[in-house]
Amino acid sequence: MNIFDEVIERHDTESYKWDFFKDPRSVIPMPVADMDFRCDDSILSALYDVTDHGVLGYSIIPDELNDIFRKRLYEKYHWSIKNEWLVWVPGLIPALTSICNMIGSPGDEVITTVPAYYPIHLAPARGGKRLVTVPMILKNSRWTFDLDAIEKAITPKTKLFILCNPYNPGGTVFNKPELEDLLNICLRNNITICSDEVHCDLILENSKQHIPLGNLGDGASQATITLMAPSKTFNLAGLGCSVVIIPNEKIRKQFLEVKEGLFPFLSRYAIKAAIAAYTNGESWRTELVKYLKCNHDYVYEKINSIPGLMMNRHEATYLAWIKCDIPGFTENLLLNGVRVIDGKTYLKEGYFRLNYGCPKATLEKAMSRVRQTADLSKVPVYVHRPV
Ligand SMILES: Cc1ncc(COP(=O)(O)O)c(C=O)c1O
Repeated sequence: MNIFDEVIERHDTESYKWDFFKDPRSVIPMPVADMDFRCDDSILSALYDVTDHGVLGYSIIPDELNDIFRKRLYEKYHWSIKNEWLVWVPGLIPALTSICNMIGSPGDEVITTVPAYYPIHLAPARGGKRLVTVPMILKNSRWTFDLDAIEKAITPKTKLFILCNPYNPGGTVFNKPELEDLLNICLRNNITICSDEVHCDLILENSKQHIPLGNLGDGASQATITLMAPSKTFNLAGLGCSVVIIPNEKIRKQFLEVKEGLFPFLSRYAIKAAIAAYTNGESWRTELVKYLKCNHDYVYEKINSIPGLMMNRHEATYLAWIKCDIPGFTENLLLNGVRVIDGKTYLKEGYFRLNYGCPKATLEKAMSRVRQTADLSKVPVYVHRPV
């Protein structure tokens, strides 16, 4: 049996995904972006060691973590960074808000593309800035940037662009020309870029490679704040362990100042788990990506066989972004036993997001309820195909 096939009961474990919504227990929750898989044993063993020691005081970031992470970025992306660029934080969402707060002056503008992971589109207002959104476009079945629309949206008040790469939701792994085009627009207009790359280790297509925006030359390095984490990759989201990479000294100092008084220390659990994950978790991660790819292909096939639903191939993440022409579908789907997130949450109506980071048996049950719900809905008789 594949280790990822194990169905683990998550009700009554203080799980945001399984316990927060207070759905009937028969409902399969597929919203929140964590996976229903057990962590790699090497990580669990590091956590047991911390428990055995038994003292849970404040922690510092050991050089070991910085060294491992720096080497990882070099090995995976040929990105040479310095340890001092790394600022570890217990979560990227407060980091996003802090970045929106510190870049520019009150009332300045932050651009992001939609659909957008909701903490991204909420961060500018939380940081006292004005949100400007630009729709993504579908080109050759991939969500990509509308560069003309981005240029048009820029004003003298635009100080920050928030990029999500790989894209959540939509699953695009942006290629070099796409990133360079976007970067050049931002550099020409003196816009800092916050590049959220938290899904970079979950690339499903062998032909695709994640490119950190900050590694596209000196200009990119100085203008980019990169967000990464072991959280999505190794299913550690609840531990709170993320990293902000800031090569620009002035911006880094600003961030460290803003961070003071806002962010707690990382727990020793988070630190030890991250070290274990980056040291010993690579074969677990490789198997995970294979499993997610099979789940993706299964969801893709099932969804595209259902009239009124349509999905493009995703290059990364475990979050399917599904076009839906069936009125009231997500509400009916919930009544029929599957919770997903409606596209409105991502500022894009007519879509929903479904998390397939779960055992195949759970996914099969969920997809059969998706089909039943569609069958029960009165839909116009036409079939969408990926474009
Ligand atoms: C694009 C994106 N950024 C940031 C986060 C939050 O990351 P973390 O909780 O690991 O800091 C998520 C979580 O779903 C995400 O999808």
